[in-house]
Amino acid sequence: MQQRILVTGGAGYIGSHTVVELQQSGYEVVIIDDLSNSSDEVIDGIEQITGIRPAFEKADCTDLEAMKVILNKYPGIQGIIHFAASKAVGESVQKPLLYYRNNLVSLLNLLELMPVYQVKGIVFSSSCTVYGQPDILPVDEQAPIKQATSPYGNTKQICEEIIRDTIHAGAPFQSILLRYFNPIGAHPSALIGELPNGVPQNLIPFLTQTAIGIRKELSVFGDDYATPDGSCIRDYINVVDLAKAHVIAIDRMLQQRTESPLEIFNLGTGTGLSVLELIRAFERATGVNVPHRIVGRREGDIEQVWANPDHANRVLGWTAKESIEDTLRSAWKWQVKLNDKK
Ligand code: UD1
Repeated sequence: MQQRILVTGGAGYIGSHTVVELQQSGYEVVIIDDLSNSSDEVIDGIEQITGIRPAFEKADCTDLEAMKVILNKYPGIQGIIHFAASKAVGESVQKPLLYYRNNLVSLLNLLELMPVYQVKGIVFSSSCTVYGQPDILPVDEQAPIKQATSPYGNTKQICEEIIRDTIHAGAPFQSILLRYFNPIGAHPSALIGELPNGVPQNLIPFLTQTAIGIRKELSVFGDDYATPDGSCIRDYINVVDLAKAHVIAIDRMLQQRTESPLEIFNLGTGTGLSVLELIRAFERATGVNVPHRIVGRREGDIEQVWANPDHANRVLGWTAKESIEDTLRSAWKWQVKLNDKK
């Protein structure tokens, strides 16, 4: 019998790519999404790729009663992948309570309901933001957690702690925390990808919108950092590679192959790329020019961070496989597709 997995935020960027990989690995998926930062057309895209329409429930995970109704409607959920969260760093500074409510209450609801419905494990979407500016690069999972620089970052740290304390108290389930570096790109089919919400704050959607002419030029936030070319360095990880790690994490929990009830993995490539290097890589990969200009630093930016992914490589048997060129081409193909639809 197919095992049933609940994916909160499954219509979102990383969530939708993960639903595709879960279905292609034989799991039955139930999506909960409030569509606050996505669209139900994403469900069509998933169906076009996999030939299977996932069950979809429009609901807010902070609504405990709504969650109970859904868990009663779909009995036998084995595992949860919890993506549903607000994720804009700048907005979180303006609206901290919105971020604390959304991100914390949704997790609390899930953790309270899991024992009631005998759900065996939860994979949590965390972020390399928990490391702040690491003292040692590449950063591994033993690195200290630094004071968060935004309410968004703080919610990721607090959620990790809530899960840790709950497992420590003997909860009858397991958890895997996945700390993502910078997810980019789109499914190679260009049927799903990152949906822009207003003016993009993240680098790649802004870059592809500039390349296609929606934006005049890309601002490069600072060239006076202590990096070889002065621009910030990040570890850009292909979203499909990232999605695959979630399937491995779910397999691992359901087949009881975990080494402890709480495991933590960095998901990155292990290679850092500067903003300027990334722009050049995009131009090389696509042949499309990206008008850009150096401007001042963006408040709150980390100078440089990239992953030591050895633990995930060794223990999960997972590595990031896609090249940066293919990944950037997939982001470009998705941008072209979005424009054609207009
Ligand atoms: C941030 C968060 C991360 C979160 C992610 C998704 C922090 C420290 N990081 O990542 O936790 O998961 O957003 O929302 O809180 N850049 C430009 N021009 C632009 C946009 C970005 O030069 O127009 C640069 C930035 O300065 C940065 C790099 O591109 O060096 C990547 O930026 P971005 O895509 O916003 O991601 P992060 O800030 O790394």
